[in-house]
Amino acid sequence: MPEPFAKSDFGPHFVWGISTASFQTEGAHDKDGKGHSIWDVFSTQKGAIANNHTAKIACDFYHKYQEDIRLLKAMNIPHFRFSLSWSRILPQGTGKINKRGVSFYNKVIDCCLQHGITPWVTLYHWDLPHTLQLKGGWTNREILEWFGQYAEVCATLFGDRVKHWMVMNEPMVFTGAGYFLGVHAPGKKGMRHFLPAVHHAQLCQAIGGRILRNSVAGASIGTTYSCSFIEPKNTSKRHKKAALRVDALLNRMFLEPVLGLGYPIEDLPVLNRLQPYIQPTDMRDSCFDFDFIGIQNYTREIVRHSCLVPYVGARLIPAPQRGVATTLMDWEVFPPSIYEMIKKYNGYKNIPRILITENGSAFPDKVQQGRVEDAARTAYLQDHLAQVLRAKQEGLSVHGYFVWTFTDNFEWAEGYHPRFGLVHVDFDTQKRIIKRSGQWYASFLGQ
Ligand code: NOJ
Repeated sequence: MPEPFAKSDFGPHFVWGISTASFQTEGAHDKDGKGHSIWDVFSTQKGAIANNHTAKIACDFYHKYQEDIRLLKAMNIPHFRFSLSWSRILPQGTGKINKRGVSFYNKVIDCCLQHGITPWVTLYHWDLPHTLQLKGGWTNREILEWFGQYAEVCATLFGDRVKHWMVMNEPMVFTGAGYFLGVHAPGKKGMRHFLPAVHHAQLCQAIGGRILRNSVAGASIGTTYSCSFIEPKNTSKRHKKAALRVDALLNRMFLEPVLGLGYPIEDLPVLNRLQPYIQPTDMRDSCFDFDFIGIQNYTREIVRHSCLVPYVGARLIPAPQRGVATTLMDWEVFPPSIYEMIKKYNGYKNIPRILITENGSAFPDKVQQGRVEDAARTAYLQDHLAQVLRAKQEGLSVHGYFVWTFTDNFEWAEGYHPRFGLVHVDFDTQKRIIKRSGQWYASFLGQ
């Protein structure tokens, strides 16, 4: 079935790209002077990752970057979002720069530029240097200093060629999963870890933004947020209030302080507990006028009131229990969610530009006669793009779309089982096969 829209419907300046992250793709975990990150340590602990997978090799992007960037070119993808590994550049987190790590990113950036591909760089996509975690990681206020140094080093080293920057990737996820639930690195649990981690990550968004603005001439600076359309189980008052609390937690907690609105304490009173960590000028210092905000959307959530869940008094009703279509992650396939999130974030006065910096899906792919016929992924992408276009046609700010992700990669606690790529990877041989969805995206972009 032909898709109901053309690339030109999005206008000539719409940014089309694809997103990846250092830890999920690079491998070469101890190569050329790289220090360990919290994910190197966490993912080698028995039982931490499904099937005890590790990312020691991952997609071996460290060695295959030239081939992969050529593949991006062949797929007509003009913008490539990737992240820098802090511990490859500063093995101890601060102090001495690892020249060989820097040289790797110089080669990646130069290779993109040689192929006419624009690099979009995320400073922090969850792989904190392990040495910093030994000092408390995100719970230690000294991270303001450490992160500032790291941002400065990256801006100085790469800012001559990289003009599109994102400070952070999904701070709600790395603080929630890593410092509250303990299911992501560094595996910490409870409010005493979560609250300081949240506040320090909050401040670092703005610190990173200011450093990039001062050090990189002509930079466009953003940061990215995970977000899902939240709906109550039904219209009863308690479910609606529960949905409001979850929305404040998942969709607003990191964004609103940046915009000068403070933490959404009124709707989520437990955030009052952040007070002990907030110093007098912190809320002012949390503000930064980003050039763009990246929305990362995959699904929607249905919420019900629950006295059994501490702090939020709410729980998410898992999609499989609701009998709806899901991806391999058990996330509901609900394309209007992306439209609703674009609309919601457009409701804030001072967000100048919104881009979709991630959207994609994992489905059970099969290689058959050298091909991957992943019709469900193509449909997912087309249906979400139709909703992005709907937002755009209503005059909402949305200026770009990046698919998650390029090659199948290490999906954090789920290991290699969920495949999100437009390109299939055989992790034994590192052979790449462009899936049918990748062929579709390539021909769509080639229009
Ligand atoms: C968001 C994260 O940024 C990315 O690292 C992850 O793989 C995708 N979501 C899919 O879960």
